[in-house]
Amino acid sequence: MSRQSPKVIRSQFLSVCKMNDSFKPGPFLMIVFGGAGDLSRRKLLPALYHLYRDEQITNFIILGVGRTERSDEEYRVEMGEYVSKYSGDLFEKVKWDAFASHLRYISGDVSDAKLYVELRTQTDSLMKKVGIDNLLYYLSVPIGVVSVIIDHMAQQKIWLTQKQSKVIIEKPFGKDRDSAKALNTKVLEVFEESQIYRIDHYLGKETVQNILFFRFANSIFEPIWKRNYIDHIEISVTETEGVGTRGDFYEESGIIRDVVQNHLLQLVSLVAMEPPVGFEANLIRDEKLKVYRSIRQFTPEEIAQNTVIGQYGAGTVAEKIAVAYRKESKVNTKSVTPTFFAGRFFVDNWRLAGVPIYVRTGKRLKKRVTELVVYFKHPPLKLLGCGHEEMPPNAVVMSITPHESINICFSVKLPGMVDRAYPVKMSFDYQETFGRDYSPYERLLIDCMKGDQTLFPGAEEIECMWSIVDPIIRYWEEKGDKHLPIYEAGTWGPESADRLMQEDGNEWRCYDE
Ligand code: BG6
Repeated sequence: MSRQSPKVIRSQFLSVCKMNDSFKPGPFLMIVFGGAGDLSRRKLLPALYHLYRDEQITNFIILGVGRTERSDEEYRVEMGEYVSKYSGDLFEKVKWDAFASHLRYISGDVSDAKLYVELRTQTDSLMKKVGIDNLLYYLSVPIGVVSVIIDHMAQQKIWLTQKQSKVIIEKPFGKDRDSAKALNTKVLEVFEESQIYRIDHYLGKETVQNILFFRFANSIFEPIWKRNYIDHIEISVTETEGVGTRGDFYEESGIIRDVVQNHLLQLVSLVAMEPPVGFEANLIRDEKLKVYRSIRQFTPEEIAQNTVIGQYGAGTVAEKIAVAYRKESKVNTKSVTPTFFAGRFFVDNWRLAGVPIYVRTGKRLKKRVTELVVYFKHPPLKLLGCGHEEMPPNAVVMSITPHESINICFSVKLPGMVDRAYPVKMSFDYQETFGRDYSPYERLLIDCMKGDQTLFPGAEEIECMWSIVDPIIRYWEEKGDKHLPIYEAGTWGPESADRLMQEDGNEWRCYDE
């Protein structure tokens, strides 16, 4: 009997990996709960307008839902003012008017069944007119309201076929692991996982997506992307803005729920994850999940050692007087809500065991910066005269805000008669090379219409991220106003944040110039 030769298993990605090709959405109807709210004004409608201006979307209706009564025309005029403010040079009145003719508005109370009956009627009639490929429900509402809407939607059965209807839910998804789990269960009673798009706009940012491209589309970085070569990693998401008009939202959420549980942990996972088996939603989600499961869970003592919170007091930011958080509108005058967080996390996996990942984020800080820096170890010997520990270490700096760029920092010989190393950098600037920035919402909306969930966190991922921050939130909430440093607005936050770095002989990257 002849032995069968073993089957040769070839990776489907050896020759080519099928990637996202350009896609033009067919006719769609988007129903936006919170259609006149802060996010719709600042991000969502500007993004949809840009997509229209760029002829990415042509045949559609956007139906804003809100509490305040407005006619369609009033809605168009009001939103036009915001979009012109937030789109800057990209705003053209003629284009806006053409776009605005696709906007409709309906007012009502989201907890009243009447609203959904009305929505059902409008949806049916609009669908007859337009013939819809995609029916998108965008839930840009406080998280407590999401389940109310989902319940009503289920009762009114306001969707097309399962495949065509999608629900997009803004972050924060829940307020802790239990509520996120309950919300996942509720939404999954009505929608399939493939129809649920939990949005984290950081994942739509070009440089955030670029973390994976930088790591896995090149072969020179991956071999050194590990504990043997990396000394530490630093991630900053610092803002100069205060809470603005969102005091009530912020009182409920605070910085950890607002930014750490989602944007910051997403950045940690992208920098720490293993190469996925392929570039698809589930495969990438699997790798990110492994990172979340490897993030060290702290005991209460370790939370005190490895995390710092703070709240902004009055000060001066960009030469303007800024009031203290407790004086902001809709904020409790005795509030203990943190507006600053710094932490030292450890990803206890094979790749990064022992490499500290320092993160910091806060409102009303000195500069607006979103940056991820991977610092490498110093060379082992002092071959080049001057003490190399005086030289900045090699670093890969991925900047997301204010300019999207990647810089590689290294040392060269200073010209002339001296033997001295001198720090320089190689730069890649997104704007300079590609000529324009894309708003993350543009990319995410198109992906959603296409049915591509790669840039959207899955149910389990969200729950895992809450498991990381829940004990930290609880610990600091129990402390109340004890140990809540008040930092002056326009500084880099409480001094205790420096301690985290100094203990390990490091310091936060300086953004002062
Ligand atoms: C949002 C938070 O998700 O992200 C805001 O709710 C924060 O509080 C914002 O200001 C930061 O995003 P970006 O894109 O401006 O860095």
